[in-house]
Amino acid sequence: MRTVTVGLLGCGTVGENVLRLLQKRKDIFDNLGVEVVVAGVLVRDSARERDIPAGIPLTDNPAFLQECAVVMECMGGIDRPLELLAPYLRSGRPVITANKALLAERWDDLRDHALAGRLYYEASVMAGTPVIGPMSTVLRASTFVGLQAVLNGTCNYILTQMEAGREYAAALAEAQAMGYAEDPPTLDVGGFDTAHKLAVLARFSADGNYPFSAVQVTGIENVTLEDIAAARGRGERIKLVAELVRQGEEWKATVSPQSLPDTHPLCTAGDSRNALVYEGEESGTLIFAGGGAGGMVTASAMVGDLLDWLIGFPGHVPLH
Ligand code: NDP
Ligand code: HSE
Repeated sequence: MRTVTVGLLGCGTVGENVLRLLQKRKDIFDNLGVEVVVAGVLVRDSARERDIPAGIPLTDNPAFLQECAVVMECMGGIDRPLELLAPYLRSGRPVITANKALLAERWDDLRDHALAGRLYYEASVMAGTPVIGPMSTVLRASTFVGLQAVLNGTCNYILTQMEAGREYAAALAEAQAMGYAEDPPTLDVGGFDTAHKLAVLARFSADGNYPFSAVQVTGIENVTLEDIAAARGRGERIKLVAELVRQGEEWKATVSPQSLPDTHPLCTAGDSRNALVYEGEESGTLIFAGGGAGGMVTASAMVGDLLDWLIGFPGHVPLH
């Protein structure tokens, strides 16, 4: 049995579930002849009670990273995770992350590591619904035409609840209680989280250096119950839609609320679910849909990335 030391950054909604899933799926690692040893879990408050397997070493000191063969990051934020991960990546070791804000906004620091195959980030877009895997592998052969997607579970939950007459503020509070929302939730309702994810996707399909700043963003804060009722009256639903389309020689990325016919594939994703319609000249139209937020569904993608790395698959390589 080979021992692999894992470091975990963050033990909140996602991190706790990563630890539970590593324990629950121990048989898969046994089958690979691997014993996963969690060398340390970085948190702000190591004294707080948590619902995690016994014996996990919680700490507010990241020194344990030195002894880890791989790091899994689900702490959120931008500057602090980059400060911790940059030297680690420079040492040639792999990182698995769910942090789309970091990927979107610090791509200049991360891109070379992604090109070298040591950055794994399936969980960063659509959580446990695999889109980064296909877009970074088989779909490369197809000529990209465009994509349209619902990428934020919190907004989708709020808009779905508002269709049932719930007030915006109450629906947002529920989404936060269920662990869907970012900290702060302005990232969700302002459309920025969707924009982060769209920038990540654009780097597989449009331009390997697609800048986050190029995404035009409008959130859902100004969508009213009346707007939603009027859309329902027309047989439509309001969704926060991410779009990437060609405009002349450029790729235009936008995030905005749109009223779509309720037969549209993006409208079948309710609650916190996500959906993506991908158009490729040769691949044709592909539809991805599934869980897009929540602890365990996100952990499933992060642990999947860990298995990929153990098996020897490279991380998610953007366009060169
Ligand atoms: P939480 O806020 O629930 O958890 C964050 C964890 O990181 C906490 O354990 C916190 O410690 C720790 N942490 C945060 N900042 C620091 C710091 N400066 N030093 C040490 N520890 C720190 O967030 P989530 O689990 O919801 O999200 C984590 C990441 O995963 C984010 O990047 C998010 O965008 C991404 N993500 C989240 C999804 C979701 O559905 N929640 C889905 C897909 C991606 P403490 O517990 O002590 O406060
Ligand atoms: N806050 C994010 C969402 C988490 O609601 O979609 C998943 O990335």
